[in-house]
Amino acid sequence: MDIEPTFSKTNPTAGVVGQPMSRVDGWAKVTGRATYSAEYSGLPGLVHAVLKTSDVAHGRVQSIDVSAAQRAPGVLAIFTHQNLPKLAKTPNSPDDRKAFVSSPMGFFPMESDQIFYAGQPVAVVVADTLERAQYAASLLKVSIVPEATISSYLDPKAQLYTPKTVKGMPGVTKRGDAQEAFAGAPVQLTATYTHATIHHNPMEPGATTAHWEGPNRLTVYDSTQGVSETQKTLAAMLGLATEQVRVVCKFIGGGFGCKAWVWPHTTLAALVAKAVGRPVKLVLTRPQQFTSMGHREEQAQTLRLGATREGKLLALIHDKSSTTSPWDDYAETNTRITNMLYALPAFEGTYHLAHANVMTSTATRAPGDMPGAFALESSMDDLAYQLGLDPIQIRLLNYADKDPSNGHPWSSKSLKQCYQRGAELFGWNQRNPKNGQTRAGKTLVGWGMATASYPVHNSQGNARVRLYADGHAVVQAGATDLGTGTYTVMTQVAADSLGLPPENIRFELGDTDLPSTQWSGGSTAAGRVSSSVYLAAQDVWQRLIKVAVQDNKSPLYRAKIEDVMVVKGQLLFRTDPDTGEAFGEVMKRAGMSDIEGSALGRYGSSYEAPRAAANADPNKKDHASEHSMHAFGAHFCEVHVDPELGTVRVTKWVSVIAGGRILNPKTARSQVMGGSIFGIGAALMETTERDPHLARYTNADLAGYHIPVNADIPDMTVEFIDEHDPYVNAMGVKGIGEISIVGTSAAVANAVFHATGRRLRSLPMTPDKVL
Ligand code: MOS
Repeated sequence: MDIEPTFSKTNPTAGVVGQPMSRVDGWAKVTGRATYSAEYSGLPGLVHAVLKTSDVAHGRVQSIDVSAAQRAPGVLAIFTHQNLPKLAKTPNSPDDRKAFVSSPMGFFPMESDQIFYAGQPVAVVVADTLERAQYAASLLKVSIVPEATISSYLDPKAQLYTPKTVKGMPGVTKRGDAQEAFAGAPVQLTATYTHATIHHNPMEPGATTAHWEGPNRLTVYDSTQGVSETQKTLAAMLGLATEQVRVVCKFIGGGFGCKAWVWPHTTLAALVAKAVGRPVKLVLTRPQQFTSMGHREEQAQTLRLGATREGKLLALIHDKSSTTSPWDDYAETNTRITNMLYALPAFEGTYHLAHANVMTSTATRAPGDMPGAFALESSMDDLAYQLGLDPIQIRLLNYADKDPSNGHPWSSKSLKQCYQRGAELFGWNQRNPKNGQTRAGKTLVGWGMATASYPVHNSQGNARVRLYADGHAVVQAGATDLGTGTYTVMTQVAADSLGLPPENIRFELGDTDLPSTQWSGGSTAAGRVSSSVYLAAQDVWQRLIKVAVQDNKSPLYRAKIEDVMVVKGQLLFRTDPDTGEAFGEVMKRAGMSDIEGSALGRYGSSYEAPRAAANADPNKKDHASEHSMHAFGAHFCEVHVDPELGTVRVTKWVSVIAGGRILNPKTARSQVMGGSIFGIGAALMETTERDPHLARYTNADLAGYHIPVNADIPDMTVEFIDEHDPYVNAMGVKGIGEISIVGTSAAVANAVFHATGRRLRSLPMTPDKVL
């Protein structure tokens, strides 16, 4: 059976999918009616917890004098490593961590007297008000015996090693003989790129409200990108069955990867709530945010690029060095993109890590691909200048018609269209091929561009649709909306799938009581959840057609199921579309007030045969095993550089993205602008400075940590290539949350080079480096 949705490829604009609908949750957000995880204030007896953290990066707690704090007004309890209730399982063994699903760090604080990083929690104070908890925490006298500290991979005491694996990728990747190919290459480029530590800094910090409704019934309101992952992880650590933990997250004030995992503050809130027998709220302060939810690690990448004199790549050798925590072999996987972006016969990538006294770094918007693209796209720009080629030309010369990293064909690739459209919108053909030649007054003007790419990751999850005879529907999936528009786009998909106006749809998410689906991470949510909503609606129609063809009062009586199609809520004969009836008629005669359908949506299942995909073995990877699935794009940037002050101002920006079906061009445009602004921040401003002796952050607040504000950003042009990918998932959606940042800092650096003739390879490109 093949049921026509109104957004089918034959009629893509008939419904609201693909229309720039405004956010369905916009009013609730701007009027304060959207409830965030720290705003469940009505819970009976709610009290407040604050963390006391270590100023010392390595050592042992000698004593914590709690006497003054205990006497302070309103204090209910003070927990240190000596009296914190024990966890059923800690994440300290790798096997346990696997079972936890979402525990990012092989260490849990306050289990012993050991201190491994500055900002590590040493005590939790619980009091009746936030202010009283904060005051009591200020009275704690913590004495720590310091030990020798290693601040980063750059520390002379640090020892670099190559791990067996990083995030499931081998520590060393080899394809062909890159060393030999590089040695024999007529053109050789070697360059090292360095990156500062950067932090996600969502507007809403980490926040947890934990409520025990019985000894074995925990509800947690947590600012998380994945309610199911948080549920499973908390259950394992607290010794509960999964279904004994409910996790709710209706609204998130940004995440960018730091809320993709379960960090200690969430588990601590649940532990102390049980101990004091009251609901507990714990909100990280801005400085605590810098040492509680991971960061993008500081790193250096050396690229050795071999090419022919015509500009054809022959070999790439990529070495990355970075800092990891004392327990984990974590590095973002930069070699993924450098191995696949261009037709490249030989590749070698190696990770070098050093343990230091910092917490484990973590996924930050386009982990690996973002810094990897900075290095590769800067090097490609170098190669273009060296050979006197246009930067777009060198990329077309090395265009990969299949994925060089595994030899698979692309599920779809519209990168050439991105280059072409981006160049058109930007006016690239007006570019002076020589650098340092264009001025506006005394200001140097430069243009740069870079390629973007991000994979479509493995992902699957459930959705449920309940259609009512009166013409409204409730649609549910335990997804999360990072603020980027999940509520809105799923309302659109449900509306079109059911043939109803969007105002008749209520889409619910952010609760483990809803059908389970995976996190909003890795740019997977839009594709996965829209596919499962679409397929769940098809399940409803299939059930309803069965009712109609058995009803002797229906015009479809005794029709073959496969002869019936559904168009905008009308059940019609495929060969005689004038004959049929509305779904409400079928339901009323059958005495049904509502009907429910559900489905599993997953990646790699075909848009062409959605039913088959919905019923297929979820472990079988069908199209995903045959195709390489990626979104592609191109960013174009103009900068003005003040030659006296060394300041760089981005004055023009164009992004063109091919990300499969774009469900809503308005929210999509905002998301791509957000990613580009994030990338401009990393390019020009963002850096968390860790003191090399104390291994302590010195600018852990938004006064010292600079991010772009409106005045730093020009009007941005964002366009999407109309792309139909028949393989990625049932809705043909690739996801755009992360590709939007990939390549952005290279586009800025390449523009700075064009303006000044200075190749900056160290992020951020602050004035001291520009001069
Ligand atoms: Mo993302 S960095 O997968 O939240």
